[in-house]
Amino acid sequence: MAEDKAAQSAPKGLGVKRGRRIETVSMRGTSAAPPRLKTGIKEFDRATGGGLVPGSALLVGGDPGVGKSTILMQVAAAVSAETECLYISGEEAIDQLRLRAARLGVQDAAVELASATSVRDIAATLDGPKGPGLVIIDSIQTMYVDSVESAPGTVSQVRTSAHELIRLAKRIGFCVILVGHVTKEGTIAGPRVLEHMVDTVLYFEGERGHPFRILRAVKNRFGATDEIGVFEMGEKGLSEVANPSALFLADRDANVSGAAVFAGVEGTRPVLVEIQSLIAQSSLATPRRAVVGWDGARLAMLIAVLDARAGVQLGGADVYLNVAGGLRIAEPAADLAVMASLLSSLSGHALPADTVVFGEVGLSGEVRPVAHADQRLKEAAKLGFEHAIAPIRKKGGKVDGIRITNISHVSELVGRFGSANDLKVVGGGAHAAQDDEWQAQFG
Ligand code: TYD
Ligand code: MG
Repeated sequence: MAEDKAAQSAPKGLGVKRGRRIETVSMRGTSAAPPRLKTGIKEFDRATGGGLVPGSALLVGGDPGVGKSTILMQVAAAVSAETECLYISGEEAIDQLRLRAARLGVQDAAVELASATSVRDIAATLDGPKGPGLVIIDSIQTMYVDSVESAPGTVSQVRTSAHELIRLAKRIGFCVILVGHVTKEGTIAGPRVLEHMVDTVLYFEGERGHPFRILRAVKNRFGATDEIGVFEMGEKGLSEVANPSALFLADRDANVSGAAVFAGVEGTRPVLVEIQSLIAQSSLATPRRAVVGWDGARLAMLIAVLDARAGVQLGGADVYLNVAGGLRIAEPAADLAVMASLLSSLSGHALPADTVVFGEVGLSGEVRPVAHADQRLKEAAKLGFEHAIAPIRKKGGKVDGIRITNISHVSELVGRFGSANDLKVVGGGAHAAQDDEWQAQFG
């Protein structure tokens, strides 16, 4: 339970006489595109839809330790050449901020630092004719407004603090970036309560133990959503990853069963990533289903479709699914790739190393076309893949250098791995067959 102060109710019987008429304008007519403050960090500019918009509010959410403070310090340093930047931290002391700046190699940037938590004080500092161009608040959960009684981090404090800061940003015209921790207990006092108040919501994702970080736009009033920026966390902070596919496939061992390369699209960018699965005989009454980087409910659906529409039974098996590299996939287009990886694991056959897979699977077992098929195929061809398993495309021509095997029902995919009767869970992965031969007739 979290305390939330009720707002004062509106006065009853609002007299229309006392209101002023609001002006309306025609929708026709043009307004100039907003000016943009480019950071020069391409992956960040891409995720924000082309740079920061003055007078707008951004929310950068993510798990503690994922790298929010790091990326924003890099952004502040990059922007400071163009406009005045203020980095306000409620979590770290100036010394710590300076240490981080030194580690990132940006200690000479003209960024002003402050350690503060009172929104009233911050507002008093920022108010005035010549304000900064960019203000970073790290994090909104440490800020408080003294007129609200509850502790910092509670819903009412987070909301009121954000509201005050955003109003100020709009009035004075600076861009404000709010950092929001995703709380362990869900997102009650976390960034979720702010999503509707800000113009842009970016989530910073990444698995612990993996260096890759994805900055994903989930809401953007000034650009496309689902756009991602890919970074790699290293000794000197976050560096941009211009070609994520090459990176995600770098450690691939092409000749193991249970792996399929998915040709995905994140935002406007094609991304190839390996999906791995492992199927094992379960000793539990309720078999384990563990998923990293994908939707568990979607996996359950695919397992049910395999059973009901193609006769492949996984009911008594433990199923583990992992998206390599720490990427999180939300696209339904990954369905067919997940299925191919499951079937590969089950049959013991490694998919041919030059093959990519994509396609959405419906409940009746049909494989549906997905958006951006050409882009996926082109990216695959670019990275040296020669074969794709894909749904039938309605439009789009031949893509150079890549053969396409069209699949319209999951049973066709199953058939390539063997008959449903052979595809049974056995212990010890005993049935890895002559793969060269099998792969040659696969596609
Ligand atoms: P941080 O930006 O403090 O995370 P957040 O603000 O989201 O809580 O990042 C902390 C992690 O990043 C920490 O575990 C150390 C790591 N890190 C690096 O690996 N390299 C670096 O150059 C920096 C600054 C941090
Ligand atoms: Mg931080």
